[in-house]
Amino acid sequence: MATFTVAIDGPAAAGKGTIGRAIANHFGFEHLDTGLLYRAVAKLMLDGGWLGEGEERKAAKIAEGLCLEDTQIDGLRTAEVGRASSRFAAMPSVRRALISFQRQFSRREGGAVLDGRDISSVIAPDSEVKLFVTASEVVRADRRYQELKRLGGQISYNEVLNDLRERDARDTERGLAALRKVNDALLLDTSDLTIEQATSQAITAVSERMGHEK
Ligand code: C5P
Repeated sequence: MATFTVAIDGPAAAGKGTIGRAIANHFGFEHLDTGLLYRAVAKLMLDGGWLGEGEERKAAKIAEGLCLEDTQIDGLRTAEVGRASSRFAAMPSVRRALISFQRQFSRREGGAVLDGRDISSVIAPDSEVKLFVTASEVVRADRRYQELKRLGGQISYNEVLNDLRERDARDTERGLAALRKVNDALLLDTSDLTIEQATSQAITAVSERMGHEK
């Protein structure tokens, strides 16, 4: 196999990352959580104190210079960075600056899994497998709340739920690369599934498609 792309899209805290990592481990593909790119832009902007006038130009410059290592920056998973990231992700020049890096990653030798909001629709519409992973709002808020608590965050469940609603609204309503399920994506609702069940269904979907590729 030369290239093989698995595109995973869906709202915040639906389980995309967990499923993406499991697929990558199972098939020996590389995985990119594209949300971390937008989070890295937001974190660097917050740390640099560059909010306000001229912020879009500055954020686009940061986005242009991002590399894979920047997805490992400490503190990308906090609620504050999550909030800011969806604001920067709605800026056209920031999104444009991140396209070619993601496209190159998607066609890397040996297979790639990317998860985000616009992978199937914009970044890699020719992906061999497209999954739309979702879960009910309450389940997603609870998962994100548990995750933030584990990370030591001081945030209430209600704040997490409100953040999630705001972010979902911004991600689905923005004019550019809005979150949506493309027609040929397989819907995977993880609300009532354990991690094992969700990952095993996703792996089966990829295996079936690989079978067809042969
Ligand atoms: O997936 P995660 O919640 O870490 O993403 C953070 C934010 O980055 C999202 O709320 C969304 O606004 C943005 N994002 C995006 N396109 C992607 C991945 C993430 O707009 N492909």
